[in-house]
Amino acid sequence: MGVRGRAWRPVPRLPLSPGPRGATFPKPGSSLYAWRRAGIPRTRSRVLRTSAAGRTAQAARPASEETARSAVPGSWACPASEEGVGTARAAARPPAPRTYTRSVSATTPTADILRAVLAASLDGLPPRQAAQAVERLIANYRGQTPTAAPILRDRGDVVAYAAYRMPATFEAVRSALAALRAAVPGWVPGTHTDLGGGTGAASWAVADVWDEAAPSTTVLDWAEAAIALGRELAAASQVPSLRDTHWQRSRISSTLRIESTDLVTVSYVLNELTAADRAAVVAESARAARTVVVVEPGTPDGYARIIEARDALIAAGLHIAAPCPHSASCPIERGSDWCHFAARVSRSSLHRQVKGGSLPYEDEKFSYVAATRVPVEPATARVVRKPQIRKGLVLLDLCTKDEGLRRDTVTKRHGALYKEARDAEWGDAWPPGQGQE
Ligand SMILES: C[S@@+](CC[C@H](N)C(=O)[O-])C[C@H]1O[C@@H](n2cnc3c(N)ncnc32)[C@H](O)[C@@H]1O
Repeated sequence: MGVRGRAWRPVPRLPLSPGPRGATFPKPGSSLYAWRRAGIPRTRSRVLRTSAAGRTAQAARPASEETARSAVPGSWACPASEEGVGTARAAARPPAPRTYTRSVSATTPTADILRAVLAASLDGLPPRQAAQAVERLIANYRGQTPTAAPILRDRGDVVAYAAYRMPATFEAVRSALAALRAAVPGWVPGTHTDLGGGTGAASWAVADVWDEAAPSTTVLDWAEAAIALGRELAAASQVPSLRDTHWQRSRISSTLRIESTDLVTVSYVLNELTAADRAAVVAESARAARTVVVVEPGTPDGYARIIEARDALIAAGLHIAAPCPHSASCPIERGSDWCHFAARVSRSSLHRQVKGGSLPYEDEKFSYVAATRVPVEPATARVVRKPQIRKGLVLLDLCTKDEGLRRDTVTKRHGALYKEARDAEWGDAWPPGQGQE
């Protein structure tokens, strides 16, 4: 491709404050700092890439969302109604499932529907109470995991979890699934099992990525309250494949057996399992599924769990579809760096209250692996850092099929490729036009 390459050198990273055990929740107060480190993608088109075309699902958008969108043109601001989110402890009497009657345009992003149904389901909770519930959960997640019983104990917990974390885990899983889909473009899963699915973030992501023919999903989780809220949110979405999701209370452990399925997702769960259960769950997923997608927080610990899962999936005969351009060993020297990506997420008023700052968005850092038995065409290379744009040139840190980690310098001399490089984003396949849709 005529791009100058030279050896890739890790750029020293500042600590990400992942919490003592690489907890799922970021540290309160760190968002602005984390955001600055991550930089800002130049457009929102990438966020919308997987949801713009061919949507057939009939869903609805509440008026509050319209208001918020028109008030902040082009932004991903939350619905104004999210300021007054629903009651955590009033949770003892679960609200009746809500539905929406207005129809949604064919291009409504699933993220917006999710935001709207979350806001509606949480309607009435005083913001202070919601923030307290989130802070309690953050503390629990920073504590000892795995636990003998669900961390998400009651409706208050799951309401807080869903409001605070579900939009972010949804975006992370959606990014991972979009990269998978690009690597196996002709493949559409007919069935999907989500292990430790909680309130259903991965089922929403699947419904978004295969929006024209979303598979039938089964969510397994041991937290009854999470299942109950997940079911409500899915029902309220009016998206047929989401409404048809099966919710099953089930403990994930080394004795777990799952029925054969096309796709298994395991998102933000491995950290809550013992090492033995983690290994068993990944092995069982590899046995039962044609494709397995594992997503973890984008921390050194999260990456370590992804590498462990990746090795096990390859050993079980699956091939890596994304993010790696190969199924050989990861070229990152252990301890020197960690492979992770970022997904843009609108910040709700609850986020701003708990974490401070005034930005309308933040970037969820995540690590992932997608492995499959389906014939796969991984990208030739993937952008593994935020591209650095300088005057007349773009520096791209790549993980490549044959040369491990490499930095390419793309200059104006490269013509059209230079333009593409200026548009390239962290996590994209490179060169463009392959391994992405
Ligand atoms: C951090 S949440 C992630 C939820 C969801 N996958 C997501 O991405 O938003 C972890 C989930 O795993 C579930 N979980 C943890 N350990 C479990 C176990 N041993 N059996 C079943 N579910 C478990 C929890 O109840 C919780 O819903």
